[in-house]
Amino acid sequence: MTYENTDKKTLASQLKSLWSEYERIKSKGYKLDLTRGKPCPEQLELSNCVLTALSGDNCISKDGVDCRNYGVLDGLPEVKELFSELLDIPAENIIVGGNSSLNLMYDTIVRAMLFGVSGRELPWSRVEGGVKFLCPTPGYDRHFAICETLGIKMIPVAMKDDGPDMDTVEDLVSSDESIKGIWCVPKHSNPTGITYSDDVVRRFAALRPKAKDFCIFWDNAYAVHDLYSDGDKLLSIFDEAAKIGPESENMIYYFASTSKITFPGAGVAIIAASKENIADIKRIVAVQTIGYDKLNQLRHVRCFPNAAAVRRQMELHAKILRPKFEIVKNILSRELDGTGAAVWSNPKGGYFVSLDVMSGCATRVYELCRDAGVRLTDVGATFPYSHDPLDKNLRIAPTYLSNDDLTTAIYILTTCIKIAAIEKCLKA
Ligand SMILES: Cc1ncc(COP(=O)(O)O)c(C=O)c1O
Repeated sequence: MTYENTDKKTLASQLKSLWSEYERIKSKGYKLDLTRGKPCPEQLELSNCVLTALSGDNCISKDGVDCRNYGVLDGLPEVKELFSELLDIPAENIIVGGNSSLNLMYDTIVRAMLFGVSGRELPWSRVEGGVKFLCPTPGYDRHFAICETLGIKMIPVAMKDDGPDMDTVEDLVSSDESIKGIWCVPKHSNPTGITYSDDVVRRFAALRPKAKDFCIFWDNAYAVHDLYSDGDKLLSIFDEAAKIGPESENMIYYFASTSKITFPGAGVAIIAASKENIADIKRIVAVQTIGYDKLNQLRHVRCFPNAAAVRRQMELHAKILRPKFEIVKNILSRELDGTGAAVWSNPKGGYFVSLDVMSGCATRVYELCRDAGVRLTDVGATFPYSHDPLDKNLRIAPTYLSNDDLTTAIYILTTCIKIAAIEKCLKA
C-alpha cells in the first residue's frame, strides 16, 4: 500500500521507527559522496597504457608529423579516423580538440556570441533583447551553467522517455527567432539515462527553425558507454540531416570525448559539424591556438588504434559499472517499491540514475542525507537556473563509490526518502 493510501496512525508509527533507524545511521559518522559522475579508481586503472604509450623515439604520427612540435590545428588524421569509425561521422567533418568536450561547447557558444554562426546572422551578443536556448529537463547542470554565465535565456522543455518533447521543440523553434539552440545528450542522457528514439532524431534533423543560425548541441558524451551488450542504439543525426539537405546539416554541432573512456580531464575531445561550419570554426580557432595537444592524441590512438579496441575497453568499464547500477536499482526497489515515495530511471548506460521523489520533498531528502553523511548533487542542479519547480528531482551518480559504500549510501538515501514522504503525507 502506498504511503498516500495508508492511515495516519500507521504512518506515524512507521515514521517513529524510521527516525530511530536514522539516528542509528547518523551515529556512524559516514562520509559518502553521490554527487559527480566520475569513474572509480578501478576504471582509471584500465587506461594506464595512455601514460606510457610514448617515449622520445616514437612521437611521429602516421603521416610523419613530430607530435612534440607545433603544427596540425585540427587533429591527427589517425585520431579523426578513430572517432570517425567509432561515431560514424566522416573524418573530414571532425576537429580533434583538447582535453574537454565541455570546453569545445563553451567555445562554440562564445564564437557564436562574438562572431555569429558561419556568417548566417548577427553575432548572438548583438541580437536585441538577447538570445534563448531550449533546455530539456532534467538535464546536465554544466550545459545550463554555460547559458547562465553567458546571459543566454533558458527555456525548459520536458524530457520524455524517448527524448525531449518534440511537439514543444518544433512549435518554439519555428515561431521564435531569438531561440538559437538546444542542448541534447542523445544517448544515455544525463541524468535520466534515456536514449533518443529514431523518431526524435528524425524530427531533430527535420526542424525548420525561424532562426537561420539555430544550433543543435548534440553532446554525445555517452556514445559508447553501454552497461549491457544489447545497449541502446542511437540513429545517426548526420545521416538523417544529409537526407534533408545542407540547411539541416548546418544546424548540428556534435561533441564527444574520451573522458569516460580513458581519463576525465586528460582525454581527447572532438567537435563535428558540416563542412561549412568546420571551415568557419577553423578560421576562428586558428587565432585562438596554434594547435591542441597532439602528444595526448597520439598516446590515445596508440592505445586504442580502432573502434574495436575502444569497444573492448568499454566492456571492461561495463563489467565494473554494471554491479554498481544494479546495487542502486535493487536497493531502491527493495526499499521503495509500492510506497509511492519515488520513481527512478533504469538506464542501460551512461553515468547517472535520475530519481523523482514526491513533489516538494527533494530539498528535505537532500538535507536529511547531508546530515546523515551522504552528499547528493544540489537540488535543482538538473534544471535551468538551478530551480526545480516541483522540488522533486535528484541525480544519483553511482560510479565512484566502492560497492560497499554505495550499498550503504543508497540505503541511507531510501531511509531519508521514506521519512520525507511520510512527513509530507502526515501534513496533508
Ligand atoms: C553530458 C555531458 N557532457 C559533457 C561532459 C563533460 O565532458 P568532458 O570531460 O569531455 O568535458 C559530461 C561530464 O559529466 C557530461 O555528463
